[in-house]
Order: sequence, then C-alpha cells, then structure tokens
Amino acid sequence: MPATTDPFEKLKAAQRESWSSFVPVEIMTTPPAAKLVKFAAVAAGQRVLDVACGTGVVTITAARAGAKASGLDLTPKLLERARENAAIAGVDVDFIEGDAEALPYPDVSFDVVLSQYGHIFAPRPAVAVQEMLRVLKPGGTVAFSTWPPEHFTGRMFAFIAGHAPPPPAGTEPPAAPPLWGDPNVVRERLGSAVKDLKFARDTLVAPALSLAHFRAAQEKTIGPLTKLLASLQNDPGKLKQLRAEFDALAADVFEENTIRMPFLMTRATKL
Ligand SMILES: C[S@@+](CC[C@H](N)C(=O)[O-])C[C@H]1O[C@@H](n2cnc3c(N)ncnc32)[C@H](O)[C@@H]1O
Repeated sequence: MPATTDPFEKLKAAQRESWSSFVPVEIMTTPPAAKLVKFAAVAAGQRVLDVACGTGVVTITAARAGAKASGLDLTPKLLERARENAAIAGVDVDFIEGDAEALPYPDVSFDVVLSQYGHIFAPRPAVAVQEMLRVLKPGGTVAFSTWPPEHFTGRMFAFIAGHAPPPPAGTEPPAAPPLWGDPNVVRERLGSAVKDLKFARDTLVAPALSLAHFRAAQEKTIGPLTKLLASLQNDPGKLKQLRAEFDALAADVFEENTIRMPFLMTRATKL
C-alpha cells in the first residue's frame, strides 16, 4: 500500500520516533522470546518472520534454533541494535525497516510468522492479520505474545491511551493494543483463516529495586509513556497525579523486587 494512502501515516511516524528508546528493555523481553519460539515449535531450516522485531530478541532466538530468520520493525534505531545483537550471537538474520500493515514480502514466503508484544501496535488489527497470514504458507504457524487487558501491562497501555490527547475529529482511532490479549478477540480476529488455535499463559518478571526505580525506567524506555509524560512538563500537578496513578497500578504487581507481567501466547495453523 503506498504510504500516502495510509490514514495512520502520522501515528506510525510518531511510533517510529517514540519506540527509539526501547533498547534497554531487551533484557526483559529476552526470556519470553525463548518461550514464544518454543511455543511456536520453530525448527531448523524453517523460514521465520518476526513482525515488529525491535532489537531482534525473538528473531535471533529463532536463528539460534537453526531457522532462516527475518525481522521487520518500524524503528531504525532498534534495527541497528538488532543487527548488532545478531553479530554478537554469530547468526545471520535479515533485518529490514517496514510496517506490520504492509509487509514487504511476497505471498506464502514463511513457514512461521511470529510477533512478541509487537504487531499489537499496528492500528488496524484486520490489516495486520491479513498481512501476517498473506506471507505465511498454508500449513504454516502464526504465533504471538500479547498483553491481556486485565493484567498490569494491558492496564498500563489503557492508562496511557486514556490520558493521551484524542485523535483529531473525524479520524479513525487506532485499535487498543491490549485487546490482543483477550482470547475471544484473538479467535475472532484470526477467524476462519486458521485452525488448531491454542493459547498458553506465562509471566515476564522484571527486576525493580523500588516502585520509583520501575517507573523511572518505564518513563525512559516505553515510548508512549515517555511521550505522555513529556506532554505534561508544563503541568506539574497533573504530572504528579499521573505518576501516582502509575505507581498505584504497578504496586499491585510489585513483589520481592520484581514486577510481574502475565502475558498470553497464541498459536494457530494457517488453512
Ligand atoms: C514493545 S516493543 C517489542 C519489540 C520486540 N518484539 C521485543 O519483544 O522486544 C514494540 C515494537 O513494535 C514496533 N512497532 C510498532 N508499530 C509497528 C508497526 N506498525 N509495524 C512494525 N513495527 C511496529 C516498535 O517499533 C517496537 O519495536
């Protein structure tokens, strides 16, 4: 799809900018990457695509399992780090800049299409699903990890969206990323294009010396949160209130110097 016809072009440009600071979070998304690759049963020799790959934690894990792995992401800064990670790990991975809603690959190119906390940020789920299934071979596996709306990370993204300025009047709002964490929504979105739909749950455990440490790290590295708080620099009262609300959300899952973030894994076979 030519970029000029994309109604979310501005939103994607803003996403590209705001996710640039995500590199340090790779330490947290590395362990669940192995869980997703195992859940998808990635095997040596398979062609695997990691959509919204960020710093390449899933892509590189798949490559280490012997797959011919490719990663795609909107954010050039993260792709730079992904290439560095692949070089350190000594694996050959093809990383390219692109949009989950317009994958630059031919139809039926991959045996497995994966996404860890990534394709959920595409504003039109139906377009992202269509693209991910288009590039997948019949009989191939689509698998992704997502944040349930009822748990901390889903609630955090709802909190961010709830305080962000509304989209300009007359424009279509982007879909809420945590809806991808609801199995009923996933079932409906994948629809009759797949069979053997399976779900599993696990938990990402993030170290946190205190709630304030956790918030400080999230403020620096989770682009949409950084952007929201930056917009309040001239409103110290509101900034203080939002930080207190954030701490109250995180306090529910702060235990023994960790923040516990349950996630949902989905796997299905393309018909
Ligand atoms: C929470 S990060 C996850 C990164 C990585 N998958 C991981 O597990 O560490 C979300 C990623 O989605 C990417 N992203 C957001 N919207 C995208 C889109 N429309 N197309 C491709 N990537 C996108 C961001 O650039 C960012 O790398």
